[in-house]
Amino acid sequence: MQADYILRGQVLSFTDTPFDGDSPEAAAKLHEAVAIGGGKVLELGAWEGLRKAHPAAELVDHGDRLILAGFVDAHVHFPQTAIIASWGKRLIDWLNSYTFPEEMRFGDRSYADEIAGRYLDLTRANGTTTMCSYCTIHPESVDAFFTAAQARGQRVVAGKTCMDRNAPDGLRDTAQSAHDDSAALIARWHGVDRLSYAITPRFSPTSTPEQLEAMGALWADHPDCLMQTHLSEQTDEIAWVKSLFPKARDYLDTYEQFGLLGARGLYGHAIHLEDRERARLREVGAALVHCPTSNTFIGSGLFDMAGLMAEGQRIGLATDTGGGSSFSMLRTMAAAYEVGQLRGTPLHAAQLLWLATQGSARALHMGDQIGNIAPGMEADLVVLDLASTPAIAQRSAGAKDLWEAVFATIMMGDDRAVAEVWINGARD
Ligand code: GUN
Ligand code: ZN
Repeated sequence: MQADYILRGQVLSFTDTPFDGDSPEAAAKLHEAVAIGGGKVLELGAWEGLRKAHPAAELVDHGDRLILAGFVDAHVHFPQTAIIASWGKRLIDWLNSYTFPEEMRFGDRSYADEIAGRYLDLTRANGTTTMCSYCTIHPESVDAFFTAAQARGQRVVAGKTCMDRNAPDGLRDTAQSAHDDSAALIARWHGVDRLSYAITPRFSPTSTPEQLEAMGALWADHPDCLMQTHLSEQTDEIAWVKSLFPKARDYLDTYEQFGLLGARGLYGHAIHLEDRERARLREVGAALVHCPTSNTFIGSGLFDMAGLMAEGQRIGLATDTGGGSSFSMLRTMAAAYEVGQLRGTPLHAAQLLWLATQGSARALHMGDQIGNIAPGMEADLVVLDLASTPAIAQRSAGAKDLWEAVFATIMMGDDRAVAEVWINGARD
């Protein structure tokens, strides 16, 4: 196939997992150029060679900019866009004070449309091409998000958040309506274009056992859907779960006993896990999603990346907007590095970039479609300027290699570092 475009730069492709071998750097390979066509990555190689092979292609020369797969954010709440960075509360008070009043507004389709568009614009400017989002209890919020993502050609996952207790009037569904509304949304959106559905019980404190059971039954009826929820984020929350489910062996068991534990399950936060929970999550191949800016912002704790990776857990990285304090996966990688430092296990730049792309894509079971630049993958790309501000430029100028240079952008970069974004083979 002839290419539509050839991009030149430092094209980063992972050939391995940078957590497995001795050297994280050895998992990555740099190429001079990438040819894309029909929305897919066709070939990696030398600039001159690709130009000769694809004479009709448009040439896009990015000099020494870094070209990598678009960022994949494995856990976000798009409806919390307008209340990001709200001051001074821990999880339960933060939900009641800021989150629930804002989420109440999404029964209004025009407001949901406005925030969905705003969220997708902000994240695209930050180089994020795929995300897995919670919506609100309102089916309109799901329609708004999928409609906006579809218009932008993006691969996204989303689901109606289900809650039938411990939430205010106007922000509760029922076991039956949550089941039926979610089923109707699956029929409308799952598998349409690049969109897919995640069954979304918010977390066990806001669902009755009857609702969790209904969600488990729905997942059994639609096993190709993802299922997303929250797990063991804060110690107060865990104590609350124990009091609500006195017979459960642990927090994970409140999902497991209702059929809500599986390989296509995504468990956000997963900080304060017990040994049984770790063992079961690994056994079933479930995905844990690390949300470092959220965990420091809401004061939740320090995720055990090194220990969980060494156990062979499937792990993605996420902003958790708006409990997380940023829309940027660069800032999120920086926070993951800082959390690693506080645990005495710093992450290498190659590991951080892998988590923000292929790691999150694998968490979403999309690792063979997105999250890496390799032949056959969908062409979602981000082009990073590694000298986007004077502070970063003076540091990267003295860098001994790419990893030192890109680490300065990870730690200090923002949307100014994002030079260009490509979605499904098209320049934005
Ligand atoms: N636990 C239940 N709901 C939420 C949420 O919206 N944000 C975070 N960070 N944790 C939660
Ligand atoms: Zn969340």
